Amino acid sequence: MLSKRQAKIFFLGGTIFFAVIFLALSVDSLLNGIPKNTNAHLLTEQVARGKYLWERNNCMGCHTIMGEGAYYAPELTRVYSRRGPDYIRTVLNFEGGWGPRGRKMVQYNFSDNEKEDIVAFFEWVNKMDLNGFPADPPLKQ
Ligand code: HEC
Repeated sequence: MLSKRQAKIFFLGGTIFFAVIFLALSVDSLLNGIPKNTNAHLLTEQVARGKYLWERNNCMGCHTIMGEGAYYAPELTRVYSRRGPDYIRTVLNFEGGWGPRGRKMVQYNFSDNEKEDIVAFFEWVNKMDLNGFPADPPLKQ
């Protein structure tokens, strides 16, 4: 049985030991993990513009990226490889709102440049290493 003093040392030692490990892992994630997994070197002005359009037009009001957003419409983290750029371009300004399976999207009015920005954003997101997220199959077919 530990004395009170031993228990204190045990508690403090354990707390400090694991806090140091936690901080070291956090620093490693920030300096190495995140830039590598997100391919930060591939971030271009165009991707940033696409992300801006994503935020500005409330795509997250219906969709998710990396699980973040609303669950009305499909997860879009891997939409670039799942559907390809032409499909994405078609969906965005589809007359009457895209909705082949019942639920409807908003009809947007993006210019050709804006569509390319959004496609570039999805392409960049698609390349992120997310340790297997989203799990296969990404959507019920
Ligand atoms: C009002 C809700 C809503 C909003 C807002 C919305 N979408 Fe959608 N979107 C949908 C629905 C619903 C579908 C799926 C239609 C289907 O295939 O059944 C869809 C489909 C898509 C698809 C094809 C996904 C796939 O796997 O087939 C893409 C890409 C997409 N949306 C991009 C966007 C972008 C970019 C924005 C913002 C500019 C946006 N959406 C805003 C509802 C929405």
